Amino acid sequence: MVMFVLITCFSLIQGCDGSVLINSTPGNVAEKDSPANNPSLRGFFIIDNAKTRLESVCKGVVSCADILAFATRDSVVLTGGIGYKVPAGRGDGNIYLASDTVQLAPPTFNLSQLTAVFAKKGFAQNEMITLSDAYTIGRSHCTAFSNRLYNFSLTPQDPTLNPVYAAALKQLCPPGNDPALVVPMDPSSPAILDAGSYSGAILKSRDLFTSDQTLNSTVNSANTVKKNNEYPPQWKSKFAAAMVKMGELNVTTGAARVVRLNCSVVNK
Ligand SMILES: *[C@@H]1O[C@H](CO)[C@@H](O)[C@H](O)[C@H]1NC(C)=O
Ligand SMILES: *[C@@H]1O[C@H](CO)[C@@H](O)[C@H](O)[C@H]1NC(C)=O
Ligand SMILES: *[C@@H]1O[C@H](CO)[C@@H](O)[C@H](O)[C@H]1NC(C)=O
Ligand SMILES: *[C@@H]1O[C@H](CO)[C@@H](O)[C@H](O)[C@H]1NC(C)=O
Ligand SMILES: *[C@@H]1O[C@H](CO)[C@@H](O)[C@H](O)[C@H]1NC(C)=O
Repeated sequence: MVMFVLITCFSLIQGCDGSVLINSTPGNVAEKDSPANNPSLRGFFIIDNAKTRLESVCKGVVSCADILAFATRDSVVLTGGIGYKVPAGRGDGNIYLASDTVQLAPPTFNLSQLTAVFAKKGFAQNEMITLSDAYTIGRSHCTAFSNRLYNFSLTPQDPTLNPVYAAALKQLCPPGNDPALVVPMDPSSPAILDAGSYSGAILKSRDLFTSDQTLNSTVNSANTVKKNNEYPPQWKSKFAAAMVKMGELNVTTGAARVVRLNCSVVNK
């Protein structure tokens, strides 16, 4: 659920508009069903249930995008004990093409590519690194990091990956790139948004993605990773601020604001 906001808000065309909730229709593969999101994103029924209850008391007022933003905050509170105020009033988007999702920062990106992609959205490198600690929760497809296990000619695996961890990952993700296989991103506490945990994994070379290890590749960025790991309270407040900022990306308000009546389908 935490990754919901990161993913939905970050497609380059739209912002935080709840479009990830829309079902595919004949001839139109939705964001929800893009390889980048399915099956990593789950729990859509929670949003749908909340929407049904809201519609029954207050028709057409609370957008799916707002429900998603509140649900994300609540999951951050429940899994990480981090609370923050969520501004409301987002409109819902009606564009939901899977092709938009492909433009998310891929796990093979290096530091300069990640920094550039976030800068385009108004985020500093420090904020980008701080948000990356959300990888302490959730699961990843093996295909997102198999290049680090099997694509190195001179060494058995990516030399920036801890060999013991690499061996364990190879058990869970045998060669062949089976798209159905997933692993927890933080095996010791997969369901807890624990402060400093993923930055700690990066410092121990026990992170899954090239895009994680690369965060430690310059003096400045490595310093941010280290600080996030060493000072949990500071990380928590930076994380909360970055989540609020993420939740405000490209929102539609005012006259342009649409509220979908059913989060899974566009209004007729
Ligand atoms: C990051 O990747 C881009 C694209 O492949 C490349 O041009 C750039 O030199 C890389 N940056 C670093 C620091 O490796
Ligand atoms: C979304 O927000 C970014 C950063 O504020 C801005 O550069 C971009 O033009 C916006 N895109 C749309 C479609 O509004
Ligand atoms: C393996 O590495 C080569 C050279 O860097 C690259 O061209 C190729 O796309 C990589 N393959 C995979 C599956 O990552
Ligand atoms: C992370 O960066 C720091 C500072 O450059 C370095 O001392 C450390 O060895 C790096 N650790 C990993 C796992 O890359
Ligand atoms: C919302 O739309 C979906 C897809 O058409 C449908 O299955 C679901 O029953 C609808 N929900 C409500 C509350 O009408």
